[in-house]
Amino acid sequence: MAHRVGVVGGDGIGPEVVAEGLKVIAAAGVELDLVHYNLGGARYLADGTVLDDATIEEWRGLDALYFGAVGHPDVAPGVIERGLLLKMRFELDLYINLRPFAAEGHDFTVIRENTEGTYAGEGGFLRRHTPHEIATQGSVNTRRGVERAIRYAFDLASARRGHLTLVHKTNVLTFAGDLWQRAFDEVAAEYPGVSTAYNHVDAACIYFVEDPGRYDVVVTDNLFGDILTDLGGAVSGGIGLAPTANLHPGRVSMFEPVHGSAPDIVGTGRANPVAAVLSGAMMLDHLGEVAAAERIRKACARPETLTGSTAEIGAAIVARL
Ligand code: NAD
Ligand code: IPM
Ligand code: MN
Repeated sequence: MAHRVGVVGGDGIGPEVVAEGLKVIAAAGVELDLVHYNLGGARYLADGTVLDDATIEEWRGLDALYFGAVGHPDVAPGVIERGLLLKMRFELDLYINLRPFAAEGHDFTVIRENTEGTYAGEGGFLRRHTPHEIATQGSVNTRRGVERAIRYAFDLASARRGHLTLVHKTNVLTFAGDLWQRAFDEVAAEYPGVSTAYNHVDAACIYFVEDPGRYDVVVTDNLFGDILTDLGGAVSGGIGLAPTANLHPGRVSMFEPVHGSAPDIVGTGRANPVAAVLSGAMMLDHLGEVAAAERIRKACARPETLTGSTAEIGAAIVARL
């Protein structure tokens, strides 16, 4: 039976790269029953819709969601990012944001906590638009939320090379950092086969560039993970190659590139679709189509040899299949 997959191309280059991803999946021989959703900045500007609750309920019954990117130059920052993408992650409780990175000399995966931290939306304004205005933006770190991300990361490290690095800023963020470090240390005691390390996030920025081979699995909070994974992409062949799985193990999950809507290159054919294609392969893994996923990954190997326009790269991957 065909897998039922919701597709949100979204804004900017999102629809361009998703179209190539869908062609590649079809060429790999996997039949998907697609449900297309017209959501993103253009839809919001047309009728005010960002994401309604009925759509989320529908998504709970799908096998997976395939997502492009959001962010529209004519829409205020945050409206679509929070109202569509983050609402999707939070309402579906996609608590693992998994971003793999590989290039010559390194092969590591970042597990980013995906429902809490500064992304939770705690805070607000006092006396807004006055000379005395105050803005706060808190960081929410629940023991349950932190621990489930850490456990997932230990399980993943056990199945890989057995090394896990916690990245945080415990020297300054002494409340959140303390909770993360204690949860990490307590879970570590249950995984004697996994060796552990800790890096402050600023130092991790050095090592990501100068010595990424030290990493196997990295676990970190939502904001640090957001920033570090753009860096991970940049040191692994470019942001146009980096895929993401947003997971709630056992439930509907969502697959998207790390990159955004790239309004600077939309419509030029310069968007690299490989990140979307590899996100599609992660989706196929999730759907149990492991052999097709592996073939797609093989077809995306040596990505520096995949050149040309968005559509030409998509066609070259299809040809390699
Ligand atoms: P971005 O990732 O869209 O672009 C950053 C740079 O990378 C740009 O120079 C862009 O041209 C380049 N780039 C991105 N994807 C590429 C690809 N596939 N091939 C070649 N080059 C690529 O980040 P930004 O410019 O900071 O944000 C633009 C908009 O996207 C904003 O509205 C932002 O909120 C949104 N955004 C959305 C997501 C998402 O949907 N997951 C992620 C990041 C940013
Ligand atoms: C990402 C993006 C999103 C994030 C934005 C668009 C909400 O940057 O997927 O990395 O910050 O998580
Ligand atoms: Mn990001």
